[in-house]
Amino acid sequence: MNGAPPPAGSIVCAFAEVADGNSHVVTFADGFELIVVRTGDAVFGYVNECKHLQVGLNLLDDHACETNAGTILCQYHYATYRFEDGYCIAGPCQGDSLTPVPLAVRAGRIVIATGSAAK
Ligand code: FES
Repeated sequence: MNGAPPPAGSIVCAFAEVADGNSHVVTFADGFELIVVRTGDAVFGYVNECKHLQVGLNLLDDHACETNAGTILCQYHYATYRFEDGYCIAGPCQGDSLTPVPLAVRAGRIVIATGSAAK
C-alpha cells in the first residue's frame, strides 16, 4: 500500500524522463509510488493505487503504466483513467478517480507542488 506523498518541493524526476503521452512510475525512498503522466507541457500525478482493488496499476513494468490516447490503463482488469483528472471512464471502478498529487515543472524537473491533498 502507498503512504503519503513527499512534501511540496520534493523532486520527482526530470521532465525529460516522461515522454509526451506516456507515464513514469516513481518510487520514493519510503516506498510511496507516484504515477506521472504527461501531455505536451502539462504533467499530472496520481497515487499508484487502482480504485478497484487498491493495487499498483503497473503489473508488467516497474517504471511505467500502460497508456493509450491520454488514458492510463490498470493492467489487472483494465480500468481506464484520464490523464488530466484521473477519472475512471471505463472498467470495474468506472466513475471513481485516482488520488491526485499536484505537480509542477521547475527548471526542467518535475516537483511536488503545494496543495497536495493525497493521504
Ligand atoms: S485492480 Fe485495477 S482494474 Fe482491477
